[in-house]
Amino acid sequence: MVQQADQFKKVISHAKEYGFVFPSSEIYDGLSAVYDYGQNGAALKKNIREYWWKAMVQLHENIVGIDAAIFMHPTTWKASGHVDAFNDPLIDNKVSKKRYRADVLVEDYVAKIEAKIEKEVAKAAKRFGAAFDEAQFKTTNPRVVGYQEKAASILKRLGKSLEKEDLADVKALIEELEISCPESGSRDWTEVKQFNLMFGTKLGASAESAMDLYLRPETAQGIFVNFLNVQKTGRMKLPFGIAQTGKAFRNEIVARQFIFRMREFEQMEMQFFIPPGTQKEWYEQWKEKRLKWHLALGMGEDNYRFHDHEKLAHYADAAADIEFRFPFGFKELEGIHSRTDFDLVSHEKFTGKKLQYFDPERNENYVPYVVETSIGLDRMFLALLSNALTEETLDDATQRTVLKLPPALAPTKVAVLPLVKKDGLPELARTIVDDLKWDLETAYDEKDAVGRRYRRQDALGTPYCITVDHQSLEDQTVTLRERDSMQQERIAMDHLKKLIVDKVSLTSLLQKL
Ligand code: GAP
Repeated sequence: MVQQADQFKKVISHAKEYGFVFPSSEIYDGLSAVYDYGQNGAALKKNIREYWWKAMVQLHENIVGIDAAIFMHPTTWKASGHVDAFNDPLIDNKVSKKRYRADVLVEDYVAKIEAKIEKEVAKAAKRFGAAFDEAQFKTTNPRVVGYQEKAASILKRLGKSLEKEDLADVKALIEELEISCPESGSRDWTEVKQFNLMFGTKLGASAESAMDLYLRPETAQGIFVNFLNVQKTGRMKLPFGIAQTGKAFRNEIVARQFIFRMREFEQMEMQFFIPPGTQKEWYEQWKEKRLKWHLALGMGEDNYRFHDHEKLAHYADAAADIEFRFPFGFKELEGIHSRTDFDLVSHEKFTGKKLQYFDPERNENYVPYVVETSIGLDRMFLALLSNALTEETLDDATQRTVLKLPPALAPTKVAVLPLVKKDGLPELARTIVDDLKWDLETAYDEKDAVGRRYRRQDALGTPYCITVDHQSLEDQTVTLRERDSMQQERIAMDHLKKLIVDKVSLTSLLQKL
């Protein structure tokens, strides 16, 4: 991973320069927190989606996939609780007229205290050298202990006020901490108000008859409303899961950090329907299974951690995040939620229809409980990209930028490069492309010196390059160069496909699960 302080900026500019992610409608100066995926980004995203889909649906006999519509009957969102409870607390600064998330203002204040702690730790580590014991220092140094206590008490009060919906106290906290507007420096704030994150739209031809709709803020509800359809038509027996990938929309106010928090994003969600009373066991199983899915990618165990929720969403009786070490610190990548029977019971109430399952073993009807796994595809993309971007100084003191993506997810698996653009080498290289392209995402490149072409493929994350040279014409062998080690070996053309497929196929990744 790029170690410099500006590594995140490097990730963003690399994503743009190499056709992974562009600002949306950039020629019109873009649209805040909305992004387009370019030619390599779309391919990487497709591969991540496929890895998730195959791991969930193909490898589990009792999980099936669906593709529900983005538009749903508006009452869905009343039943799910999103109309009433899917809110962010907002506050406006009267001088700058800028709008902020009140909780984020307080959290940013706490982040500054945490930065002070880190500074003290770094100073002490330097002073004490190898003998430094960070844990002991943090529990005994009076200044650091003071900072920690202050941070904890602020977060506790914020948590309590938000839970009780005591927005006046959130404002009082902002005032007591003397938090000022980052833009104007003013401390003249409005009251804190709840702001619903759903985007509204209309269905219908005339203003009078149009129906107010929402763009779905999560894909999960498309699964809940289809629970009986799938259970009956698929003759599914509990426990079973329904998986889905698709777009979700949230009017995020603090939309920043590139594709980490977007207004239009893609989720990969799975609802696992289980008998009531078994939720704890399934929740633990799914936490473990999902972490395994991440670890199989080889991005380093140290870069993941679980964060168990203390403040639970309105639908959950247990919840945890899998957090990933992004360039800006550990943040939520995936959520695992024990959602009880909240959603199905609520849809029963609003529709008057039974959403129950007859359990032949228990000989009774009941509303199943649900354990959900929910991961943002764009966030997963950012985790992969930021972890993969590496700058290396080579033995000859030159630099190379290489995207060390897991080979199975790389947009292009192999690039075929004729050493020169003559003597029949391009023609032979083309025959290799024509052979490989059925099984592997294959690129052909004949422009520039071969060293520059290697660098270009390194920056795109292509795990293998095949170079066709004059010897190839004579003995039907080529050189195969591996991205990370840069090792080259001479291989018979006949062996290429099997050798590369074995190393880069999704199957090899899935077999680790
Ligand atoms: N159905 C449950 C649900 O939607 P969530 O924690 O709100 O739970 C699940 O979202 C995942 O979706 C998150 O862990 C994150 O990866 C992704 N996600 C949520 N909001 C996002 C946003 N504004 N931009 C990008 N990804 C987002």
